[in-house]
Amino acid sequence: MNFLGKSRSRTAALLPLCWLFLKILRPGHSHLYNNRYAGDKVIRLFPKTDGEAHALKKMFRQLQVDLWQPSSISHVSEGTVTDVHVLQNASQALLAFFHEANIQYEILIEDLQKALEKESILRTQRNRRSLSDYNYEVYHSLEEIQDWMHHLNKTYSGFIHLFSIGRSYEGRSLFILKLGRRSRAYKRAVWIDCGIHAREWIGPTFCQWFVKEALLTYRSDPVMKTMLNHLYFYIMPVFNVDGYHFSWTHDRFWRKTRSRNSRFHCRGVDANRNWKVKWCAEGASVHPCDDTYCGPFPESEPEVKAVANFLRKHRKHIRAYLSFHAYAQMLLYPYSYKYATIPNFSCVEYAAYKAVKALRSVHGAQYKYGPASRTLYVSSGNSMDWAYKNGIPYSFAFELRDTGHFGFLLPEMLIKPTCTETMLAVKNITMHLLKKCP
Ligand SMILES: *[C@@H]1O[C@H](CO)[C@@H](O)[C@H](O)[C@H]1NC(C)=O
Ligand SMILES: *[C@@H]1O[C@H](CO)[C@@H](O)[C@H](O)[C@H]1NC(C)=O
Ligand SMILES: *[C@@H]1O[C@H](CO)[C@@H](O)[C@H](O)[C@H]1NC(C)=O
Ligand SMILES: *[C@@H]1O[C@H](CO)[C@@H](O)[C@H](O)[C@H]1NC(C)=O
Ligand SMILES: [Zn+2]
Repeated sequence: MNFLGKSRSRTAALLPLCWLFLKILRPGHSHLYNNRYAGDKVIRLFPKTDGEAHALKKMFRQLQVDLWQPSSISHVSEGTVTDVHVLQNASQALLAFFHEANIQYEILIEDLQKALEKESILRTQRNRRSLSDYNYEVYHSLEEIQDWMHHLNKTYSGFIHLFSIGRSYEGRSLFILKLGRRSRAYKRAVWIDCGIHAREWIGPTFCQWFVKEALLTYRSDPVMKTMLNHLYFYIMPVFNVDGYHFSWTHDRFWRKTRSRNSRFHCRGVDANRNWKVKWCAEGASVHPCDDTYCGPFPESEPEVKAVANFLRKHRKHIRAYLSFHAYAQMLLYPYSYKYATIPNFSCVEYAAYKAVKALRSVHGAQYKYGPASRTLYVSSGNSMDWAYKNGIPYSFAFELRDTGHFGFLLPEMLIKPTCTETMLAVKNITMHLLKKCP
């Protein structure tokens, strides 16, 4: 039975199947994203000295490379691992330059187009859209995720309420799932958002996983039962809806929103540099073509403004803010914009320590944890600092798997282990909220 209802004909249902056969019969004839990444490489660099780092920065600025890690050229420094996506036409010159400058490097992905297509061939063959037997171990497009949300809203009306907090730049609804056992009593809440950065696909996948686990294990798992009885969860599976959609249709490595700029041709603002907390200082860029562009003013992005308004309105009962990113394997807490210790450091640090330990117990994945400024890098205007400054005491950002082997192209095979371990960390933090801080 087609979940979209009776209006869809049988022919329409067969179309994807025909397309799949065409793909199998004529391999190589249809390239994803118009074959735009053919011959592109992802290279990891280890600048050993200040001079090497300086030379790299200069080169990167000239070539306008797509930096994977860190997110801004200004953070490239000696002793910092740097992952960079290099276009095919620039790779020869760059490799020659690395040799000449004696900068140590390693090629992480030899041909980005091939890497991308290798994963997606498997993807088209798996059960993607059925909602009665939903596949949580594949990446889902925005449309699929929205259908799923509406389906849950209908099917689990006792636990889930779906609503929109506004519209994106391109006019898409900004949906939030409110999850928890309905109760007249006052309940505190946890906010969870995924997909602020479009290309970090494992984020939205985790948000979906979290909801699935909650619904599936509420009856059997006493921890989940306690969580859903005592708290509401506000879950935003895809924060940057326009960017996420664009990363499926045009550019797999798109990071920002899709807003237009009146003076530059480059589009988009970094939705994690657009918040009113030390806005556009260190670790953010004033240039609209940069991946860490802070925007023309704080909350210029309708997505950021909608979420900020919602959090402002509900900050009294929202006790935790959790934001999901990739990749680095880290659990971060404030501050991000400065090197300073937050007032309730010991409570927050203890929660992070326990969460990371719980996460590691599943598959042994090593996560670093600590204040974002010291653990990752200084970045201003982000949502985690903003939530903390606006009175949400437990504010965390997860950088999920991996540490660069696949980077943003984390294979679907790793969705299950990644989500299973992360689930434990989130449950651990949540249970911590319900106790008194030691
Ligand atoms: C490499 O190709 C991109 C587009 O694919 C183009 O914008 C850029 O100017 C080219 N660079 C060189 C050095 O030819
Ligand atoms: C979710 O379901 C409720 C009824 O249970 C309905 O009032 C609401 O409009 C639905 N949300 C959306 C976004 O359709
Ligand atoms: C949280 O993790 C710690 C280990 O770090 C573990 O002892 C504890 O049982 C976990 N609690 C929950 C609720 O998962
Ligand atoms: C620190 O913790 C105390 C006790 O839990 C709480 O009352 C206070 O609001 C917290 N302060 C901050 C800045 O989170
Ligand atoms: Zn991110």
